[in-house]
Amino acid sequence: MSPPETHADPGDRAHADHIVVHRSPALVGEVVVPGAKNSVLKLMAATLLADGEHVLTNVPDIADVAIMSDLLAAIGVDTAMTAPHELTLRNDGDLTPVAPYHLVERIRASINVLGPLLGRFGHVRLSLPGGDDFGSRPIDMHLRGLEAMGATITIEHGDVEAHADRLLGADITFEFPSVGATENILMAAVHAKGTTVIDNAAREPEIGDLCAMLSAMGADIEGAGSSTLTVHGVEPGTLRPVRHHTVADRVQAATYAAAVAVTGGELLLRGARAEHMEVLLRRFAEMGLDIVAQHDGITVRAGGRLRSIDVATLPYPGIATDYKPLIVTMLSVADGVGIVTENLYPGRFRYVEELQRLGADISTDGHHAVVRGRHALSGAPVRAPDIRAGAALVVAGLAAEGATTISGVHHIDRGYDDLVGRLAAVGARIERRQAAGGSSA
Ligand code: UD1
Repeated sequence: MSPPETHADPGDRAHADHIVVHRSPALVGEVVVPGAKNSVLKLMAATLLADGEHVLTNVPDIADVAIMSDLLAAIGVDTAMTAPHELTLRNDGDLTPVAPYHLVERIRASINVLGPLLGRFGHVRLSLPGGDDFGSRPIDMHLRGLEAMGATITIEHGDVEAHADRLLGADITFEFPSVGATENILMAAVHAKGTTVIDNAAREPEIGDLCAMLSAMGADIEGAGSSTLTVHGVEPGTLRPVRHHTVADRVQAATYAAAVAVTGGELLLRGARAEHMEVLLRRFAEMGLDIVAQHDGITVRAGGRLRSIDVATLPYPGIATDYKPLIVTMLSVADGVGIVTENLYPGRFRYVEELQRLGADISTDGHHAVVRGRHALSGAPVRAPDIRAGAALVVAGLAAEGATTISGVHHIDRGYDDLVGRLAAVGARIERRQAAGGSSA
């Protein structure tokens, strides 16, 4: 593999980096919203389905892309950044359908190589992904779906081994619209014999993006964007490589909206897709934000104190669990009391303790959090426990008196393309201090 040129894995260095944020004036200007992590990692997996040279554009400069590149390299795909935000992936068909533990354990999306490799090669060995920073994340739905398509699956010594001479189309109804399981079965079904119908499929925009790329490659998919996906399998060897533009990241867009919400001001989130964030934007408007969809983005204006609301996370089109730390942060400085209910990951309130260190008044009970808004937070050292919570702590720091120093920056680097630089460019008082003592905006 040619190592990606601009995707240096931050490794130990970023483990020791800090972000220092001070209470910031109103943010004003424009932020270009990068491509979505949760899309690009699956688009990268989809390149396993067709030989040749694929080009992905609007690729975010994030650590998870580098980790996924390493996993694909281990399987036999060459990846290189060939222009800013452009990733070229070369697959000459000589692949080893084995995903080793040291790579799988680093990134949940590695599970997404299972479906395409099994559908194409008839066998795959993948190390079982471990738990995540916010709790256990089983893959039973992925495996049951593949079994329904005729795969034989064994789990031994921490590895999943799947075999199927040729997967067969099947009717699969998910008990829950899992994002990852929908993507895996979709990519497995592309090369199956016959038709696969996935009912109660997840409908996230990132799945729509994957469907668009697979269709351009020659896959036969009906119902993209709906909860019933019908895939008519095509003969292996018939798909072609494509050039594909990664959909804008709705969670990064929401992060900049949350930032302007707590500082006041006005930001144009260039590239953000209002139609992918409808429910969230409606709730943000209830909190007092003035939101206008533009032809190429979203304008968010904030002034005055936010109003509290109650929120529950749900599969798309509901409020995504990934938005929740941002919403809890906004509620921490809003007028009134808000109740936040987590319906996807019961353990995902760990960052609350960090927000409490900043003076936030939050109590949790099971999968509920009660947030009593305060006029201001107070800066303190805190640690990012995962990607989204890390970004939320940065947003909290913008509204906190004094300095907020955030460690665990490597988590933020997994999913945010230059969060610090983008915020600094619109007026935030924020810098990144490197482990060696240097600093950069
Ligand atoms: C993806 C996103 C993640 C987001 C989540 C929900 C990526 C890389 N990650 O994760 O950022 O928070 O969607 O929007 O795209 N479950 C099972 N069995 C399974 C599969 C899932 O019990 O076989 C459970 C999970 O434990 C979790 C829930 O279903 O409680 C949602 O998981 P899922 O939708 O699969 O999320 P991911 O694809 O892992």
